[in-house]
Amino acid sequence: MTRHIVRRPWDLRESLHTPPEIFFAGKRHRRDFLKAMGIGGIAASGLLVGCGKPDPREVELAGKAPAPPDAFADRYPAERNAAFEYGRPETDKNDAATYTNFYEFSTGKDSWRYVSDFSVAPWSFEVTGLCAKPRSFDLDDVYSLFTLEERAYRHRCVETWAMCVPWTGFPLAELLKLVGPKPNAKHLAFTTYNEPAVMPGIARTGGSFPWPYTESLSIEEAMNDLALLVTGVYGEPLPKQHGAPIRLVVPWKYGFKSAKSIAKIELTDKQPATFWNVVQPNEYGTVANVNPHVPHPRWSQANEWMLPSRSDTYPTQIFNGYGEFVGGLYPDEPRG
Ligand code: MTE
Repeated sequence: MTRHIVRRPWDLRESLHTPPEIFFAGKRHRRDFLKAMGIGGIAASGLLVGCGKPDPREVELAGKAPAPPDAFADRYPAERNAAFEYGRPETDKNDAATYTNFYEFSTGKDSWRYVSDFSVAPWSFEVTGLCAKPRSFDLDDVYSLFTLEERAYRHRCVETWAMCVPWTGFPLAELLKLVGPKPNAKHLAFTTYNEPAVMPGIARTGGSFPWPYTESLSIEEAMNDLALLVTGVYGEPLPKQHGAPIRLVVPWKYGFKSAKSIAKIELTDKQPATFWNVVQPNEYGTVANVNPHVPHPRWSQANEWMLPSRSDTYPTQIFNGYGEFVGGLYPDEPRG
């Protein structure tokens, strides 16, 4: 088994342990400063590349995943589940697709630029560990075994940006029912695709990060109806930069819990180690519920801003506003 050398957070370069939202804000100021100074030349013009909004056609082409086989062509768009509403305007598709966190490709938000060599079909993921019927699922299994639905969910990143997007997927609980968790299965460990040859972010950050990207849920969280395994967004298969072909979405938790491009789900009796928690345990917990009463050590969580505008702000809601679904799972969560 590969052993990862994990440096202590204080040994990491600032760009590696600082969420890009914060780190790159500094770069942006530098760029604006150069522009204001009227500095030309190759270096300055290089820094200014990408200032405008990326062309939606170029973005769509770059991230496009193959359509499902003909037999499953009717899976998108899926029927909208009326139980879920944003309570805010939906985020523009291109804004969401060009502001993604997918460190395997980029530590910026521009992973769409680096996903072209990432092939997402065929794909299979295994479900292993403490369950009666461990097995693997390919995409045809997913399309034939589960009924896809569309859910309008709010998404809140720990970095304070937020979006409202229509995910297509099915409850994780449905998959668990098929494999039959054993009574001693207390946690789910998610491991995501890890191939430096097609994921330049892994190649670049190498030993500084504990690859592969991993995440976890308790079995109670995983069985909650809100926890969705997602195969599509905006009525189409997931673009690669959003975590094609299958990812988790747990909207009451900070976005880093929603692991992308899942390769393995293991049921275990112990709390698994998780990527960001290993990197910075005091900043990224394993529970990580959205909570305005628990500030991040380096910034307030009181407010959030909606893509694409930093001035479009809202007060952060505990459990991202999903308390009626999940509040009962967390009697000890600070509530004020
Ligand atoms: N999953 C993988 N494999 N790698 C990542 O870097 N980033 C996480 C999460 N899942 C990440 C990941 C973070 S920090 C967030 S906020 C969400 O994905 C962002 O999802 P989106 O980019 O589709 O909006």
